[in-house]
Amino acid sequence: MLSQQTIDIIKSTVPVLEMHGKAITTRFYQILFAKHPELLHIFNHANQKQGRQQTALANAVYAAAAHIDNLEAILPAVKQIAYKHRSLGIKPEHYPIVGENLLAAIKDVLGDAATKEIINAWAEAYGVIADAFISVEEGMYREAEEAEGGWRDFRPFEVVQKVKESEVITSFYLKPLDGGKLPSFLPGQYISVKMTIPGQAYTHIRQYSLSDRPGKEYYRISVKREDGAGETPAGIVSQYLHEQVKEGDILPISAPAGDFTLDMTKETPVVLLSGGVGLTPMMSMLQAIVECQPNRRVTFIHAARNSLTHAMREQVTAAVSGHPQSVSYVVYSEPTEADRTHGSYDREGFIDLPWLQSVLPDQHAEFYFCGPVPFMKGVYRALREWGVPEERIHFEFFGPMGSLVE
Ligand code: HEM
Repeated sequence: MLSQQTIDIIKSTVPVLEMHGKAITTRFYQILFAKHPELLHIFNHANQKQGRQQTALANAVYAAAAHIDNLEAILPAVKQIAYKHRSLGIKPEHYPIVGENLLAAIKDVLGDAATKEIINAWAEAYGVIADAFISVEEGMYREAEEAEGGWRDFRPFEVVQKVKESEVITSFYLKPLDGGKLPSFLPGQYISVKMTIPGQAYTHIRQYSLSDRPGKEYYRISVKREDGAGETPAGIVSQYLHEQVKEGDILPISAPAGDFTLDMTKETPVVLLSGGVGLTPMMSMLQAIVECQPNRRVTFIHAARNSLTHAMREQVTAAVSGHPQSVSYVVYSEPTEADRTHGSYDREGFIDLPWLQSVLPDQHAEFYFCGPVPFMKGVYRALREWGVPEERIHFEFFGPMGSLVE
């Protein structure tokens, strides 16, 4: 139990740390990796370089600290992060390392303003926050391990099939090397792949949504090749998967995780909206509904640049045609001449509210969406404008968490 005095110190210093948030966490990562280079096997170097993870961790620590006397209130956020940690293989013994270096960074950045009293209060508060994460994560490890066919950390999988889905997206069909069972998962969940790339000093771990329905004898992921443009570097892992990984290769995989999932206990109509490679969790949701919920109404809306980058079109058509309650629409932002000739899309441009209103009977549905940030912002704004309540809006960011509301 934290004393009232400690709680008061924490609450009064949260805004100060928030103000210096970026500087503190940037410093934190510098000293963390200098002292513990082995952690570079776990952290995403690309996120580090672009400063994305810095903001995510800072925000989470301050949000937790601001609720230090009522951590229950932020349990959904804790769970989401804990799933990510569990998927990455974060262990209880990692927490003191992070805590120690975070405090050192606070001291470095705040200088004399960081009194002994303040540092002690934050050390205590960090301990409470860390314990909350460790206990939620332990529950998740146990759940993953105890599921039928389940496992705890990484398990070797064989790439049994590699299928090109579009000019930029390729699917990998994965089966456990030990020939054992595969646990089920909830449509929308992701797995982590741990990659050892020749010439790279550290392993790289990446999350990919499962893109087929549960209940198959394989897991499927579908990966976009990130070629890099402008400020954004090429994706070292996605390039390696596309160019080098072949059928028969072995990839270590962690068990399915994540809370962006379709509630299959409901029969409420569903609208699945995706942009680009954001279609992967939506494919899993669509296939699961088609397989298990013959009476559930589902609208599948996919936005791509044009037919060249449009993945899994035939799979969607096949799924929808076998399910009378479902319908699909295609939105192209830059259709090719051939697309225009064949009329192979339903809308040119972007998804906006008037168009959504023209294709959906009403807004009484559960809305799920995933895609690039501008797409997500557009969809979110349109749905809120239409009056869809927050609790029926579900979305997932690829990469570090972000915000749709500015
Ligand atoms: C991801 C918070 C402890 C390693 C994240 C994210 C948040 C976060 C908000 C982003 C989640 C997302 O993108 O969905 C925290 C908090 C911690 C903590 C509040 C302490 C209470 C740790 C520890 C480790 C760790 C002890 C291991 C040394 C990671 C890694 C990622 C991550 C590797 C993935 C992102 C990346 O690779 O850059 N954490 N974390 N975290 N966390 Fe933590």
